[in-house]
Formats: sequence, structure tokens, C-alpha cells
Amino acid sequence: MKSAEKKSHSYLNTRSYYNKTMTALNSLHQSALDYQLSPISIREIINLSSSPCDIYVIDNNGLYIEILRKNTYIDNDVIKDLLKNKMVHLFVKEEQRQDLIEVQQQNLRLIARSLSIGNAVDNGKKLINLLTINMRYLYEYPMDDNILNLQYQGAQNLFRFLYEHSSIHEQLYLDFLKFKHHYIFAQPFLSSLFLLGVLKMSHLFSEKEIEGLFITSYFKDVGMSAIPIEKYDEKELSEDDKRLLTRHADLSVEILHGRLPLSPNHFKIIEGHHSFSKLDSELGPMGIGSNLVISGIETVFVSTMDIFTAMTSPRPYREATSLFEGLEMIKKLISEEYPNEFRIIVTYFKNFFAKTMKKSG
Ligand SMILES: [Fe+2]
Repeated sequence: MKSAEKKSHSYLNTRSYYNKTMTALNSLHQSALDYQLSPISIREIINLSSSPCDIYVIDNNGLYIEILRKNTYIDNDVIKDLLKNKMVHLFVKEEQRQDLIEVQQQNLRLIARSLSIGNAVDNGKKLINLLTINMRYLYEYPMDDNILNLQYQGAQNLFRFLYEHSSIHEQLYLDFLKFKHHYIFAQPFLSSLFLLGVLKMSHLFSEKEIEGLFITSYFKDVGMSAIPIEKYDEKELSEDDKRLLTRHADLSVEILHGRLPLSPNHFKIIEGHHSFSKLDSELGPMGIGSNLVISGIETVFVSTMDIFTAMTSPRPYREATSLFEGLEMIKKLISEEYPNEFRIIVTYFKNFFAKTMKKSG
């Protein structure tokens, strides 16, 4: 996954200036680090009691400095300090990256097994955050069977948990937003949470059917892993990347086919989940096109929850739209052809955001 391109950060200019004043030895050391270090998310070390690897940040002079040595204690103050000093771009040596991944995956397995013990909101929060971290690993290594299987089992656990705990969905949603996961990894959970709620409220599907659609929705964007995550933070993607992005639904099918126990119908839904793309805020004018024919109400629900989630969440290149505007978009897209489904969606969101809507008048 490592590439020179991945490391083309703006701080490099600052560093080359600084290099002139450094000793030759320091300079060599920095160049070696530049080659060996991979970026990680700060969320990967929150909630760890000790660091499974050496962790580096870039200082004000554009130099890598080691801030946490392997096996040293991490507490809230360490995290607070990093956030206060805006040191959120962390790095680990490639050879130690696996140690961090293994610790986080072990935490995911543990919480997935003990969801019935203790406080439901706390357990749900932990499970969702660890799954979102593992989603990052899946996007980094989409063909790794162990990561995919763990994510699949975790998603099944998450489904059963959410299905049984409808009353805490809003709390989990609000807590999840606070973590500010990268939108690429937050979107699958948020759109699937809404989907589960809408499908349950509709009384049109059995629990087993809702589970299948939840899993379908959760993995539908894995094809977006074809583009390195850093590029999603840029204001605009290159033409090549835009082309890859418009193909992400097909790529998701290619990545998942034969590896997840989904039915042909579920794969059809993944393939068609951007049937509305002409108006899809995620792809903008680059949308897949003019094919507004939707195959079945399952796709309508999966696609509209995806669009609503994307619109009402901020992106690096735009603000979040209001809940009202999100519903207006769904109205435009489906209310004529699918009036009953539209009514169900409106009712669902009115209930879900009852407090938020009351507050905003
Ligand atoms: Fe998508």
C-alpha cells in the first residue's frame, strides 16, 4: 500500500528547507523515516491502554518525531495533547503496522462476543467505532480474507444488536458523529443504520431479509478502496480517479463476489445503488448517468438512505445540507413512483430526528 505518492504531503517543502540546517546524520535519519512510515488515523490509538508500536508525528518544522514508543502507556491526556497541538496526522513504521491492526481487531472480536454484558450504549459505541476502524483496514487491503471475514462477522453482530436496540439508535448516531471518522468509513454505518430503521418500520420485510439488505448496504462501497484514502480529502479528484469512482459499484461486486454469502439479488442492488447518481451529491455531475430505472423497492431504500446520509454529512469540499433538504431530495427522486415508500421514509426520519427537529424549530 505504500507508495511515494502516498507521502506527497505539503510539509515536505518545509522539511527540505530545514534539512539544510540539519546535521547530515539527522537528515539521513529523516529520509529513512520518510520511506518507512505509513499514515494512521488518531482514532486507531484512542481507547488503547498502551501503544502497540512506535508512533510518530510531524513537528512544526516538518520533521518526524517519535511521540510514543512501543508499549508505553496511553491515557486521555496524551490524546488531548495531540488534539490540542493539532497533531492528528500520525505515522507508524510499516513493519509495525500489523501489530496495531491486530490489537484493534482483537478488541473488535472481544466486544462483538460480549455485547449482552453491561451497558448497551457503551457496547454499541465500542462496536461501531472498532468496526469503522476495521473498515479502514479493509479499504487498505480489500483482498485480505481475514479482514473481510472479521468485518462481515462484526457487521452481523452489529445488525443483531441494532435490531434489538432500536431505542438507542439516535444516541449511537450522535455519539458516532462525535468521533469524526473519515466520511468514507462513516458513510457505510450511517446509511445502513437508517436503512435498518426504515425497513423495520415499513413492516414489509422479515428480520432475515433486513439483515441481508443491511449487510449489502454496509459493504456496497468497498470498491471505493480503489482510490487511496488521502485523495478523498482533496478538493477535486483527478480525471482517472473520477472514472474509478464512477465504477465503484461494479468494483465492489468484483471485490466481494464469491467472498461474502450474498445472493445474486443483493449483488444486483450493490451494482445499482447509484441508479439515482445524476442527482447524487457524492458523485455530483460525474454521476453514472441517466438510468433512473430502479430495480425493486429494496434498491430504492438502499439508494435513498445512501443519498440522504451523504447529503446530511459534511465533506471536505462542502457543508452538510439540512435534514429538510435531504428529504426534499428523496421526494424529488421517488415520491411520484414510490409514494408509499416515500411516506415511510419521511415518518422514519421525523421520529428519528424528533429532538433535533424540535430544537431547530
Ligand atoms: Fe456508493
